[in-house]
Amino acid sequence: MSDFLVNRCICHEHSFEEIKEYAKEKGYTDLEDLQIDNYCSNGCRICAPYVEMVLETGETAFEPGAYYKRKK
Ligand code: FES
Repeated sequence: MSDFLVNRCICHEHSFEEIKEYAKEKGYTDLEDLQIDNYCSNGCRICAPYVEMVLETGETAFEPGAYYKRKK
């Protein structure tokens, strides 16, 4: 297990916990909703697959590469 967990959108300075709450407040269920709103995940986009997992699972911290492990 890594000491480092992916838990935020660095470009927009929002933690995944904040993103989860914001999506809930706005009724957003898709990553694209958050990107169009300019809330997260439309800068470098490296966080995008993790934010998809936030929306799908409700979890807010992930091992680096967790997205790729999920896709197997
Ligand atoms: S880290 Fe989220 S867009 Fe760059």
